[in-house]
Amino acid sequence: MQRMMLSSTRVLGALGRMTAARQTAMAPTLASRPFSSSSDAARDRRYHWVEPEAERLIARAYARHRQLAQRDAVSPNGWKSFPPSISIADLESPAIEQEYHYPPKTRGDRIAKKLVDYGEKLMHLFFREKYDHHAVTLETVAAVPGVVGAAHRHLRSLRCMKRDHGWINPLQEEAENERMHLLIWMQHTKPTGIERAFVIMAQGIYVAAYSVLMYLSPRTAHRTVGYLEEAAHRAYTDYLRAVDSGAIPNVPAGEIAKKYYSLPDDAKLRDVILHVRADECMHRDFNHHLSDLYDAKEEDEFPTKMGEEVEGKPSEAKEGASSGVGRASVVMAASGKKTGPDGAQ
Ligand SMILES: [Fe+2]
Ligand SMILES: [Fe+2]
Repeated sequence: MQRMMLSSTRVLGALGRMTAARQTAMAPTLASRPFSSSSDAARDRRYHWVEPEAERLIARAYARHRQLAQRDAVSPNGWKSFPPSISIADLESPAIEQEYHYPPKTRGDRIAKKLVDYGEKLMHLFFREKYDHHAVTLETVAAVPGVVGAAHRHLRSLRCMKRDHGWINPLQEEAENERMHLLIWMQHTKPTGIERAFVIMAQGIYVAAYSVLMYLSPRTAHRTVGYLEEAAHRAYTDYLRAVDSGAIPNVPAGEIAKKYYSLPDDAKLRDVILHVRADECMHRDFNHHLSDLYDAKEEDEFPTKMGEEVEGKPSEAKEGASSGVGRASVVMAASGKKTGPDGAQ
C-alpha cells in the first residue's frame, strides 16, 4: 500500500514538473490572460474574458462553416451570420493565438479545472510529440458534451413543458463541429489499436459521468467544457508549432477540411489547424458563457451569440433599434413574441 502511494506521488510529481516546464516554454508568447480587459465597460460584455478583437475574429471564423452559412441563408427571420470570410493572417493573429483563461469562481469551477488539468497532463504523457494522434483522440471526447448538453435541454423542455430559448441548436452544432474535426484528422492519421481501445473505454465513462454532472449541475458541466476547450486551444497551438518547426510535414489539406471550411485547392495542413483552433476558441467561450447564464439564473434566456456585441447584430440594422444589444434574441415588435436567430424556441 505504502509502495503504491509512493509511486503515485512520484507520477504526480513528474506530471507537475512536466507542466511547469511546458508553461515556462510557452510563457513569452502565450501567457494566460484572465480578465485581460480591466475597464468596467469591458466587464459589462458577456464575453468579457477575451479581447473584443479576439471575439470578432472567432465569430467570423466560426461563421465560415458550410452548414452554418447554408442555414443562415434560409433563416426564417432573415438573420445572417457575420461574413463567412477570414484570412489566414487573422487566424494566426495574436488575438486568436492568445491563451485566454476563465478564472474559477466557485468550488465546482476549481474541481472542474483540476480534473481537466490532470486529464491534459495524462494526455501529454501518453501522446508526447504525436500531436496528430492527440488531436484525433481529443476530438472523440470533445464531441460528447454538445450532444449530451443538447439532449439535456431538450428533455428539460419536455419535462418542464416550457421553451428552451435557443440553447439546443448551438449545442448540437458544437457536437457536429467536433465530429467534423475528428473526420478531418482521420484523413491525416490513423489511430493505433491502443488508442481505439482507449476511446471506447473513455466514451463509456465520459458519457455516463458528463450526463450525471449535467443533471446535477449544468453550470459546472459547461464550465468543465470551457476548461476542456482551453486545453484544446493549447493542444492545437502545440500542433501548429510542430508543423512550423518541420517536426510534422505541412502536407496538403484533406478533402473534408477543404469542403467544410471552403478552403482553396492548395490549402495545407497548417491552414486546417488554424481553422480548427479558432473553432475551439468558440467552444471555450460559448460554454463559459452558458455557465455564466446559469450563475446569473438566466438559464431561460437566449445565449448571446459571440461577436454580437463587438460586430453589431445583423438584424439590428433592419430593426433600426439599439435596444436588445448583447442578446441573441430578436424582439418581434409586431407580435410581441421573442424568438431566436433561427426561430429557435
Ligand atoms: Fe475540436
Ligand atoms: Fe472544441
